[in-house]
Amino acid sequence: MVKNGFLIHYLRSSMEKEIVLSGIRPTGFLHLGNYFGAMRNYVRMQDEYNCYFFVANWHSLTTHPDTKTLQESVLRVVAENIACGLDPEKVSLYVQSDVPEIAELYLYLNMLAYKGELEKTTSFKDKVRLQPENVNAGLLTYPVLQAADILIHRAVKVPVGKDQEQNLEMARNFAERFNYRYGETFPLPYAFNYNSELVKILGLDGNGKMSKSENQNTTLFLADEDDAIRNKIKKAKTDQGPLAPNSVKPDYIENLFTLMKLVSSADTLKKFEDDFNNSSDGNCIIRYGDMKKQLAEDMVSFIQPIRNQALDLQNNKELLIKIIRQGADKARSSASNTLSIVRKAVGMDY
Ligand code: ADP
Ligand code: TRP
Repeated sequence: MVKNGFLIHYLRSSMEKEIVLSGIRPTGFLHLGNYFGAMRNYVRMQDEYNCYFFVANWHSLTTHPDTKTLQESVLRVVAENIACGLDPEKVSLYVQSDVPEIAELYLYLNMLAYKGELEKTTSFKDKVRLQPENVNAGLLTYPVLQAADILIHRAVKVPVGKDQEQNLEMARNFAERFNYRYGETFPLPYAFNYNSELVKILGLDGNGKMSKSENQNTTLFLADEDDAIRNKIKKAKTDQGPLAPNSVKPDYIENLFTLMKLVSSADTLKKFEDDFNNSSDGNCIIRYGDMKKQLAEDMVSFIQPIRNQALDLQNNKELLIKIIRQGADKARSSASNTLSIVRKAVGMDY
């Protein structure tokens, strides 16, 4: 009896857990920005929430139509997510194209999305500029597919960076329109981050954020070998040192301190902070060469185990396939549940 009571309590609390969803496009190697801006939050959320994390391989077709290396990239992203601490037993870790229910919801939502609003989104305008020879309809309706990804699980929290704010706003608009026309079906999803201030990791030259597709030499990838990490950090931009005590740090110096804060010990960080603050013109105490050497070693210690575990997993393709099948099963069970409610609401339930 007591046992049953406990079980009911457990089941109810797991059912009441808020639903979380996020996705990463398999368009390149994952880097430190992805780790500290996204994956670190995923790992933290997996114990508190009912989580769905997926690899957005349909979305990647909007900009990367050549699929020769796509399968490999998808499996690498899955392996890197697990190596960063995601537990496929706790979350549903799946590949978008394994859940066809998303495509059907995308179809219904497309009827509620207007050409004018889609053409106005910043990411669409950016892509038109970047690939004028391939302005396909998938690119235009990218936010609709993203809304379907989220709404198919009726997720309410979406851990993403600032750049995704507009897509989240559009997902809320489509959900509201659907609810208004066909009856209350979807809760409204919001971007989520643990810190009020979102972390943004700049490239090592201080120009723009670290990114899968920008300058490879200024981005630290989770798959980088030890010496590649050391070389990139060695070449990171610095200057002759601060001209007055307690100076404001230029972006590229601030970024080195941000990285140090993330991967080095508190004592190490404090030493270099103090050196910086006590430096002035003609009395430069901080030695950027030493700081970069220390940062490089701490970064190697940080990335090495992730890289090695990800590689081990990639060499065990059978296991990875098993994991994504299991993830797809969990995701499809939630997705088909939502879809039957949606079909009923729209009147497609014969
Ligand atoms: P990329 O720009 O490298 O292609 P994505 O756009 O696929 O990366 O982003 C995947 C996730 O990683 C998003 O939640 C995004 O906000 C986060 N992210 C990407 N780059 C950075 C960065 N340099 N700093 C912090 N977060 C980042
Ligand atoms: N557009 C997201 C990005 O570029 C990837 C993505 C696709 C996504 N579908 C999603 C993120 C659903 C969160 C929720 O980073």
